[in-house]
Amino acid sequence: MIHRLFIAILHLQMVKIGDITLPDFPLLLAPMEDVSDPPFRVVCKANGADLVFTEFISSEGLIRDAIRCRKKLNVFEEERPTGIQIFGGDEVSMGMAAGIVDVTQPELLDINFGCPVKGIVAKGAGSGVLKDIPRMVRLTEACVKATSLPVTVKTRLGWDDSTKNIEEVAERLQDVGVKALTIHGRTRCQLYKGEADWSLIAKVKNNPRIKIPVFGNGDINSPEKALAYKNRYGVDGIMIGRAAIGYPWIFREIRHYLQTGEQMAMPTVAERIDVCKQQLRKSIQWKDSIRGVYAMRRHYLQYLKSLPGIKEYRQQLVTLTEPEQIIAVLDEIAQRYEGYEMERMPIELVNYHENCPL
Ligand SMILES: Cc1cc2nc3c(=O)[nH]c(=O)nc-3n(C[C@H](O)[C@H](O)[C@H](O)COP(=O)(O)O)c2cc1C
Repeated sequence: MIHRLFIAILHLQMVKIGDITLPDFPLLLAPMEDVSDPPFRVVCKANGADLVFTEFISSEGLIRDAIRCRKKLNVFEEERPTGIQIFGGDEVSMGMAAGIVDVTQPELLDINFGCPVKGIVAKGAGSGVLKDIPRMVRLTEACVKATSLPVTVKTRLGWDDSTKNIEEVAERLQDVGVKALTIHGRTRCQLYKGEADWSLIAKVKNNPRIKIPVFGNGDINSPEKALAYKNRYGVDGIMIGRAAIGYPWIFREIRHYLQTGEQMAMPTVAERIDVCKQQLRKSIQWKDSIRGVYAMRRHYLQYLKSLPGIKEYRQQLVTLTEPEQIIAVLDEIAQRYEGYEMERMPIELVNYHENCPL
């Protein structure tokens, strides 16, 4: 009897997205173009991410069988559960793309209604739909009808300060069958400026009409902030983007802090190098030697940040092309900094779209 009660309580605390069951207060890895590839998702999963997302994939590219787009559908077993994110402004194409994603069997399909980039918005895709809710609903319906996967949406608070329509958007999306919603606490016109405002996300979560999980996103870069936002805004879980780049340990550190109220020890230099090597090997396995090496270059800066005198090594890491040579440099770094105690510094959140035209 007590056992059954215990199981029932555990179930109550879990978060469900359709048939997928996630732990209480799941930590999600954000979709990030050119960053959230399978190798990176694997290391995030291994270090505590509960659900990971691919970068956004063009629905038009998918249906035209663009090889580059199809490659983005690859999912490694070790990273699951995985959501594949698509974007587009045409209902027919979105439906067809959803059907293609269905065949590759990820755990869920996510629709991008948040991308602020001008070229995408102009096609009525990404956050462009925030100006046209009926269109957003039609695009979503087309996907829901075309797949048996749970469909989720990631979006922003609204188009600009005077049109923060996320409360209406959430209800309309739930009504057409969306199974979870991630909200980035900025408008399209804010891009990444200012601080993310989670108060409207909390309003959506507290709307008694909203039954689906609501995940908050924006500016989480420490376990303390994660706990504070969990308590203050009452969301079902959080999605983390920039803070995970080169620091996949953010997930396990947050989980540990939520469970114990204490900071987990930071990864040692040896562990950093080890994970770096794992990601490099996976990257080569996934792409090929040279493209795997190139893809990894954007990650070293963050992995090795704040090691004194690291610049020279980093320069080698981003110019060498032979995997063995890169591994040798990584091993040398591990040796040189063995036992070095890194100082805990706040994770800097880079403004990626600083020069993006509105
Ligand atoms: C380099 C980069 C690429 C991104 N690409 C995507 C994407 O493909 N799809 C998407 O929905 N959001 C994308 N985003 C937005 C992130 O998913 C996330 O919403 C944003 O970074 C805010 O979260 P954060 O403060 O935790 O980084 C991207 C962000 C960055 C920094």
